[in-house]
Amino acid sequence: MNVVGIVGSPRKNGNTELLTAHTLKAIAEEGIDTELIRLAGLDIKPCNACDICKTEHKCSIKDDLDPIYKKMKRADGIIVASPVYFGSATALVRAFMERSGRINRDAFRGKVGGPLVVARRAGKNFTFAELTLWFQILGFFIPSSTYWNVGIARDKGDIEQDEEGLQTAWNFGKNMAFLIKKISG
Ligand SMILES: Cc1cc2nc3c(=O)[nH]c(=O)nc-3n(C[C@H](O)[C@H](O)[C@H](O)COP(=O)(O)O)c2cc1C
Repeated sequence: MNVVGIVGSPRKNGNTELLTAHTLKAIAEEGIDTELIRLAGLDIKPCNACDICKTEHKCSIKDDLDPIYKKMKRADGIIVASPVYFGSATALVRAFMERSGRINRDAFRGKVGGPLVVARRAGKNFTFAELTLWFQILGFFIPSSTYWNVGIARDKGDIEQDEEGLQTAWNFGKNMAFLIKKISG
């Protein structure tokens, strides 16, 4: 059993990464392998609507997505984490969702997954909903937590002060592990 946590902040070692690592720790405690994948610095282009994926279930764009997509297909659980940029997910996360979600609409069906979001102030719920829509349409089972999975932080490391955000992410990780184990039977 394994979970990949995909971090869509262009800022390495930032708040989104810390929150994702925290969630993965809660999951690893339950005996599930975890891997954190940073999109920062990678070349992930947006979908160009060539539609080759419709017939061949592969993407015509040659960049850094493919190895990540292969890991996602092998995973039992997937987390997609984004900071809020102008009230929305980052461009990096949008490109990642467009491409990975389109290659094969059944690739993730029945897996467990959900979002994590970090913002300084506003746009958290919108972005949480935006990411949830991706998980929903692709047939993931989405575990809940004790609040929406949103953290409040501005400068690098600020997330460590958001006790409730950390606790919510932790509880989400625990629910994710629980569900993965139930499904794996
Ligand atoms: C281009 C840009 C746009 C941002 N837009 C918002 C926003 O709309 N709402 C908000 O609350 N914070 C906004 N922020 C702040 C980030 O969400 C915040 O600093 C977050 O902690 C960054 O996460 P990271 O450390 O993982 O990169 C913005 C930051 C940047 C760089």
